[in-house]
Amino acid sequence: MSLIPPSADLTRSAAWQALRAHRVQFAQTPLHTLFDQDPGRTREFTVEAAGLYVDFSKQRWSAETRRLLLELARARGVQEHAAAMFRGDAINRTEGRAVLHVALRAPQGEKIEVDGVDVVAEVHATLKRMAQFCNAVRAGEWRGHSGQTIRNIVNIGIGGSDLGPAMAYQALRAYSRRDLRFRFVSNVDGSDLVEATRDLDAAETLFIVCSKSFGTLETLTNARAARAWCVRQLGDERAVAKHFVAVSANAEKVAAFGIDVAHMFPLWDWVGGRYSMDSAIGLSTMLAIGPDHFADLLAGFRAMDEHFQSAPPERNLPLLMGLLAVWNSNFLGAESVAVLPYSEYLARFPAYLQQLTMESNGKRVTQDGTPVDYATGPIYWGEPGTNGQHSFYQLLHQGTRTVPCDFIGFMRPLGAPARQHDLLIANLIAQSEALAFGKTAEQLRAEGTPEALVAHRVCPGNRPSTTILAERLDPRTLGTLVALYEHSVFTQGVIWGIDSFDQWGVELGKQLAARVQAEISAEDATPLTHDPSTNALIARYRTFRKQQP
Ligand code: F6P
Repeated sequence: MSLIPPSADLTRSAAWQALRAHRVQFAQTPLHTLFDQDPGRTREFTVEAAGLYVDFSKQRWSAETRRLLLELARARGVQEHAAAMFRGDAINRTEGRAVLHVALRAPQGEKIEVDGVDVVAEVHATLKRMAQFCNAVRAGEWRGHSGQTIRNIVNIGIGGSDLGPAMAYQALRAYSRRDLRFRFVSNVDGSDLVEATRDLDAAETLFIVCSKSFGTLETLTNARAARAWCVRQLGDERAVAKHFVAVSANAEKVAAFGIDVAHMFPLWDWVGGRYSMDSAIGLSTMLAIGPDHFADLLAGFRAMDEHFQSAPPERNLPLLMGLLAVWNSNFLGAESVAVLPYSEYLARFPAYLQQLTMESNGKRVTQDGTPVDYATGPIYWGEPGTNGQHSFYQLLHQGTRTVPCDFIGFMRPLGAPARQHDLLIANLIAQSEALAFGKTAEQLRAEGTPEALVAHRVCPGNRPSTTILAERLDPRTLGTLVALYEHSVFTQGVIWGIDSFDQWGVELGKQLAARVQAEISAEDATPLTHDPSTNALIARYRTFRKQQP
């Protein structure tokens, strides 16, 4: 079979048409009827694997829907594409690259070759160097320029070079060295760095400059500002050697910036930024939790990789999750997915997933350049529960849009009182029940609700959700969860026939920003040649700026 699915044929394919026909008769059946009709529904649609208990039974689907979705996956070659990814084929076609984040967690001794080089051996050599470095910093052996112990670690990066590290630090705080302070600086808004460093002593601060390309405007701007701050405080250019390390695939640019390449940790062009938190981009994570916990994190990723490759389709978590995203988007008309972790530690998880899912699958043409005639990548968003309950859940329960929800929870608290944890979990469970089954006018009347309020208080239910439970949030579980979403995104991309691993759409804004920046600071009054709105905005700012002393 060709590994590029015939692009424009998706909606005309037999598998798609069968799902469309199925939807017409099935979509009328509400969730409560599906549960009434099949007392074994929860067993049927719950999958336990790699330490996760995933209940898909509150999704609006049936065994027939699942069968047809799996047929679609077969017809689109999801399994063959996955095999090609794990093998190291150049499945990122527009950039001509292999997509091998799975090699980042492959066990030592496994062989995956890219251009004749065994990348797994390189990964393990890098992990070893990272561990040596982290142990030295954590033991106080790697010291600052003036001999002081490192107590502050500032990660400078953006996108995949920030979101993964920032999310993982927050998620795994309970496993982190509490005497080390971690900060994450990403925004080109200079106040980000100013606020992150204002209470730090440069003599005790280590900057990790994370950038795969080492050409990203925001990161280089912040790294230069950080270097100036450090040299200013320590009074010596040579301080950079002890206070800056880099993570990059571009040794030349790292050296040009002034960081010794001996203090650079590599990554490779076969790791996409949004798939890189388990590479050296995770150096801050390893510094926080230590090499052993980092190994557990990788083991979690690996467990899900193995599951994705070997579990039967009807019990395959990422495959089912990806197919449900397609079903909800393309057949039930959902435009977004709400990710609702019932854990404050996972506060940054929705933001992390936004890049993973939307930079991957926010595409409008197929691999061969044909415009799609179906919706692709849904909008992922969310907030931790229970906070979201007092904010946007109103729309989830009674709004006019269908928003499928992913509830994520952990049985064991991490230090929180057990009673309070019961409350948290009770809320998680109750929300998925309320969304699925709602409350009818009859029930409200029976409770004595005044007639004028009945319509306002009805919760229609029939709102789909998935519940993911794990025993506890630890490094391994985090790895498993992230890999679950990675492979779900992959599955969706294969179905839609798009390149989930490029991001050409971010380029235009970058080019225009460079042009506008030059125009803002130009000394002469060269006429602006944008559209009238853009010209007016530039002119207004330029005039304001010129008036400043
Ligand atoms: O502009 C988008 C992007 O290329 C992301 O894909 C990436 O994660 C981010 O910028 C940062 O890139 P880099 O690690 O090369 O600085």
